[in-house]
Amino acid sequence: MQDFTEHNGQLFAEQVSLTELAEQHGTPLYVYSRAAFSRHYQDYANALGDHPGMICYAVKANSNIAVLNVLAQLGAGFDIVSEGELERVLLAGGDPARVVFSGVGKTPAEMRRALDVGVHCFNVESEAEVDVLAAVAAEMGKVARVSLRVNPDVDANTHPYISTGLKENKFGIDIAEAPRVYAHANQLAALQVVGIDCHIGSQLTELSPFVDALDRVLQLVDQLAEQGITIKHLDLGGGLGVTYKDEQPPAVADYMQAIKQRLGNRPLSLIFEPGRSIAANAGVLLTKVEYLKPTPHKNFAIIDAAMNDNIRPSLYQAWQDIRPLQRREGDTQSWDLVGPVCETGDFLGKERQLNLQTGDFLAVMSSGAYGFTMSSNYNSRPRAAEVMVDGDQASVVRARESLASLTQGEVLLSQQLKPS
Ligand code: LLP
Repeated sequence: MQDFTEHNGQLFAEQVSLTELAEQHGTPLYVYSRAAFSRHYQDYANALGDHPGMICYAVKANSNIAVLNVLAQLGAGFDIVSEGELERVLLAGGDPARVVFSGVGKTPAEMRRALDVGVHCFNVESEAEVDVLAAVAAEMGKVARVSLRVNPDVDANTHPYISTGLKENKFGIDIAEAPRVYAHANQLAALQVVGIDCHIGSQLTELSPFVDALDRVLQLVDQLAEQGITIKHLDLGGGLGVTYKDEQPPAVADYMQAIKQRLGNRPLSLIFEPGRSIAANAGVLLTKVEYLKPTPHKNFAIIDAAMNDNIRPSLYQAWQDIRPLQRREGDTQSWDLVGPVCETGDFLGKERQLNLQTGDFLAVMSSGAYGFTMSSNYNSRPRAAEVMVDGDQASVVRARESLASLTQGEVLLSQQLKPS
């Protein structure tokens, strides 16, 4: 997290004091670094170099339109999984011709909108979807470019909830079945087969699962060529892990080098869909200590951020560092940092050595990916505001939700029954 650094015991985002942001905008507050988003994206773009292809940022990791706009300005493409994400990309100035549409459950309406704006490719996840997409495209008099997402049955060695490339997962088409489904798709006039797609999981910290998956995909490319089906691009999904604690994920450049080496002389362009490795270490979640509650068994610090703001610790037992915004001299104690939500699973960190006082501000580090996007209104808590820092400037890029917004769209039964 090189863009979030300490000066004289105070934590900064680029050149902006996080304490000042917390005081000015209140907590819980997400704070992002434009420099970090940009550098992480550029790492991919530089590593791809002049090899034909695209870096399609996975919008689900952090979909704030200011974030998407920063990436769009750098020439990024986008990996989307819903019409909502597509609309965000368009609002942010993203180029639809650089969008890939993933996801197991695209509806015909979503397909129509994507065909209307001209997305680059649909990553199709089942044989049934092949037929629905062909019917929608035919009805519109269009040809949809498709990749089939294949499931290579590779163990990504990651948390089971974010592992996607095993036979028992709902994603993709079994790689053994793929030649038959490709043959079927290839004879449908409303589809143009252009690629193969594969995404085996998230937070991968070793290269070997990626390389194993690629080897299987390349075998399929060769087999399809024998069937007379020419694959133009490989989409290798996202998944490169980040350092939350002491993980040592491969460098982007090494990852890409390993991939390029294995392509041999096949003229394949490359698409990558990184989410976490661009966003996670580009953001923090600021929170305030509301109450200290030492007990004979455990010390609880009740903070104003909760599982509705960042569900990763509760859902995946994820560990994210928690640091004071202003370091204090003196002894530390072990604290469980828990939120106000009425669930035992509502914690952001357990057994952290900190020197705490009521009113202290803390930062939950590495919160830029799957933080705000997975947040909810559980316990009727308005969602946090989001701020983007750029050098010595800070801008609110999403206002804190109001209490009124919580009930927007809800009506009393008696109002429903009123004759119109
Ligand atoms: N492409 C596809 C088709 C995906 O399903 C995903 C993530 C990505 C790309 C981006 O993967 P990344 O580069 O971020 O690993 N909420 C979980 C992570 C879920 C990942 C879902 N798919 C977490 O907070 O750890």
